[in-house]
Amino acid sequence: MKIERPRGTRDFLPDEMEKRRVIERIMRETAESYGYREINTPTFEHLNLFTIKSGEEIVQEIYAFKDKGGRDLALRPELTAPVMRMFVNECSVMPRPLRFYYFSNCFRYENPQKGRYREFWQFGVELIGSDSYLADLEVIVLACNIMKNLNLNFTLNIGHVGLLRKLLQDVDEARYYKIMRMIDKNDIEGLEKYLSSERLEGYFDPIKDLIGLKGGTEVINSAKEIIPDFDFSYLENLCKGLEKLEIEYNLDFSIVRGLDYYTGVVFEAFAKKGLGAQNQICGGGSYRLTHLFGGGDVPSTGFALGFDRIAEICKMKADAAKSILVAYTAGMELEALKISERLRKSGKTVLSDVMERSLKKQLSFANTVGAKYAVIVAENEFKDGKVILRDLEEGEQIIVNIGDLLKYFDKE
Ligand code: HAM
Repeated sequence: MKIERPRGTRDFLPDEMEKRRVIERIMRETAESYGYREINTPTFEHLNLFTIKSGEEIVQEIYAFKDKGGRDLALRPELTAPVMRMFVNECSVMPRPLRFYYFSNCFRYENPQKGRYREFWQFGVELIGSDSYLADLEVIVLACNIMKNLNLNFTLNIGHVGLLRKLLQDVDEARYYKIMRMIDKNDIEGLEKYLSSERLEGYFDPIKDLIGLKGGTEVINSAKEIIPDFDFSYLENLCKGLEKLEIEYNLDFSIVRGLDYYTGVVFEAFAKKGLGAQNQICGGGSYRLTHLFGGGDVPSTGFALGFDRIAEICKMKADAAKSILVAYTAGMELEALKISERLRKSGKTVLSDVMERSLKKQLSFANTVGAKYAVIVAENEFKDGKVILRDLEEGEQIIVNIGDLLKYFDKE
C-alpha cells in the first residue's frame, strides 16, 4: 500500500535542504549580529495559550487535540504566544530588553495552495521589554536586512493598529474584533452592512477614510484630521528613524493583521515577484500578551519571516560539497574503509561503497553522484603502501603514497 504524506505537508530532498540551510544560516547570522540569541519552545502547547486572546474561533484554524490524559493541546500555529509564555515562566527577572530569535515549524489547518502549507517554518524574533519606537525601529530594520542579505525584492508596508483602536474606543471588545477581522479581509461591503446592523454606521466613513490612507509620511497629516486626539509622535519618530537608516516603506493604515494581540505599530513585507497570491513573506508588530499569561504588562515587538515562501523565491544555490569516493578491488574493502575513516577525520566528505560492487560499477557511481576524486585501493599498489588517485573531473590519475594522500586534497 502506497502511503501519501498528509495534505499541506512537504518532503525536502537533499538539494532543497542544502539551499534551506544556506538561507537559514544567513537569517541566523543577521539576527545574531544584532545580539539576538536562539530559543526554542515545545512543538505543542496547552490549547488555551492560543485561544485566550483570539477566542474559540481560532480552534478551526489550528491543530487542536486531546491527549491520552484528556488535556486540550495544540500544535503551535506561531511562536509569539509560546515565547511570551516562556518569558513569563522563565525569564521575567532577566535584564531587559531581551532579544530572542527562533527557527521552528508551525502548524495551521489551512487550505493548502502554493506558498500556504499546513506545516511551515518561521524564522522570527521577539524584542521584549521596551515601549520605545527604537524597539520597533530595530526589528523592522533587522527584518529588512535579513531580506536584503537574501537578495529579496520586497515592499514594506507599515501601519499602526492604535489608530483604529482609538477610533473605535467606545465600541465593545467583541464588536471591535469583528470589525478588525472585516478590515483584515478587506470586506468593505460586509463592514458597511455590519456597522449599520449594529447601529454603528457613524463609524463607516472615518474607518473607510483611514484604511484608504496609503503612501509616505504625508498620510499622517490626513490621519490627524480623522483622529485628531491620537498621539502620532511615536509613528512620526519611527518614520524619522526609518528615513535616517534609509529603509524604504509605505504607510498603510489598513494593516490590522490576522492575530489579535497587536497593539501598536504593525508591518508586513511582500515579495515583488515569484509567489502569486501568497506573497506576504514577513509580518510583525508590537503587542502586549504577558499579562494574559500571568505576568506583568510587558511591551514587546517582533516579526516572523515565512521561511518556505522565501525559500521558494531565493535563487541561491548551496556550494556543492566536493566529495571523494574510495573504491576498491575485490577483497580490499576493509583497507578502503580504513583509508576513508582517515580522510573523514581530516574533514573530507568521503563516500564508501556498501554494495560490494565491481570496481567499474563503483567508479561509475562516483560519476553519477558527482564525486570529484576517486581513491582506488587496489591490491597491487596497496602492497607497496600506495593507492591510485583519480581526478574524475580531469580524467587523470596518479599513484600516490597512502601517507601523502591528504596533501593532494589539501591543495584544494
Ligand atoms: P503571521 O503573519 O501569521 O505572523 O506569520 C508570519 C509569516 O509566516 C507570514 O508573513 C507568512 O510568510 C508565513 N506564513 C503564515 N502562514 C503560513 C502558511 N500556512 N504557510 C506558509 N507560510 C505561512 C505571526 O505568526 C506572528 N507570530 C509574527 C510576529 C512575531 N509578530 C510579532 N512577533
